[in-house]
Amino acid sequence: MKLAFIGLGYVGLTTAVCMAYRGFDVVGVEVDDEKVEKISRGIAPVKEPKLEKLLKYALSRKKFTASTSYRDAVKADVFFITVGTPSKPDGGIDLSRVAEACKHIGETLATQEKVATVAVKSTVVPGTTRTLVKQKLEEASQKKVGMDLNLCVNPEFLREGAAVDDTFHPDRIVIGDDWGRGGKILTRLYKKFYGRKTPPTMITNTVNAEMIKYASNVFLAARISLINEVANICQRTPGADVEEVAKGIGMDRRIGPHFLRAGLGYGGSCFPKDVKALAAFAKSLGVEPCMLESVQKVNDNQPYKAIELAERLVGNLHGRKAAVLGLSFKPNTDDIREAVSLKIINKLLEHGCTVVAYDPAATENVRRLLGNKINYAESAEECIKNADFCIVATEWDEFRRLKPEVFKKHMKKPVVIDGRRVYDPAAIS
Ligand code: UDX
Repeated sequence: MKLAFIGLGYVGLTTAVCMAYRGFDVVGVEVDDEKVEKISRGIAPVKEPKLEKLLKYALSRKKFTASTSYRDAVKADVFFITVGTPSKPDGGIDLSRVAEACKHIGETLATQEKVATVAVKSTVVPGTTRTLVKQKLEEASQKKVGMDLNLCVNPEFLREGAAVDDTFHPDRIVIGDDWGRGGKILTRLYKKFYGRKTPPTMITNTVNAEMIKYASNVFLAARISLINEVANICQRTPGADVEEVAKGIGMDRRIGPHFLRAGLGYGGSCFPKDVKALAAFAKSLGVEPCMLESVQKVNDNQPYKAIELAERLVGNLHGRKAAVLGLSFKPNTDDIREAVSLKIINKLLEHGCTVVAYDPAATENVRRLLGNKINYAESAEECIKNADFCIVATEWDEFRRLKPEVFKKHMKKPVVIDGRRVYDPAAIS
């Protein structure tokens, strides 16, 4: 089976390369020629553990090629749409890249006799595949979905920084199909890919599959905001420790232990965007998204808890030297989209602080954004040197390994605001 991935972001590229690694012939189509050039030389444009190794292997075996031209995908049996769906200013999603991809896939398929399958992996609001995607494909291909063209939805649940492992070991596969054949073809493809270890597979209609993706992300985001609100209450309750509380509630099988890490809130390219998009979608239907708006509100305020704590601990922040450890939105990535560190840094600058930041991977991305508004350190030790206070904004393992003595030795006073709960407070005080 020949596969094409349209859009080589972290989802498209990772899935494409994993498929190629397991023996499928895969073509990746991407409009950004610089990206294509890099990928073709075996360089992954996103920092993702294991990805580059697999990419090099797939290229060397000629199982994977990247191209800017849809013509190179003409022989594909299955086209996965993996383009981005960014937020519009009103929070709704911008489907223009999906529409563009459908047009090009349709034009490519117009030249082909065979019945190909198109699978939408991009996160799209419920109903998009049955309407926009179907219409664009049919217009451009002059084919009919359900007759000489198959269409289905196949959302991805990959975490950045763990995308390769998540591709090889997903909890479940969700496929939405309104017409009957596309879903069967994808099920067969995944059987080949996973063999005896095929994960539980759910087949439903396209709208449910699209909604499952959003609902999964808003549920996880809601857990984070909920535990953060509990943490804020604990903070003002003598004797209460949210970590103990999270441990206790996580033992209830109905709740479970995951995604209960309290801290400075969620960032990244998915949760903020998806909560906003589902809220905008709800409003368009006349549904008041009370929960979703609260999830967002808690998360919007959460990074500033670090500033409040700093003020409580050192007084007026004006003229103080602040050290920020961690810039990426989470560890093991250089991605700074919606990173809490940026909100914190901007607020510290507003307060008149001098900011020094350090991150094991994301410094260059922040430098491009903030330039010389802040200073950049080469190591955690250099970052905290003579600082009045330090805020840990990302839970990199490298920070976990820092001993309390390091803070005591380098800082004016060891005032550490551990926004990601990486240290044992008893050890540092
Ligand atoms: C998420 C989903 O996990 C994934 O299934 C989906 O496909 C894309 O969105 P990702 O954004 O890569 O993945 O990161 P994730 O590990 O889920 O973390 C998101 C944010 O939540 C991070 O900023 C993280 O620090 C924060 N988080 C996570 C918490 O604050 N507490 C937690 O308990 C878990």
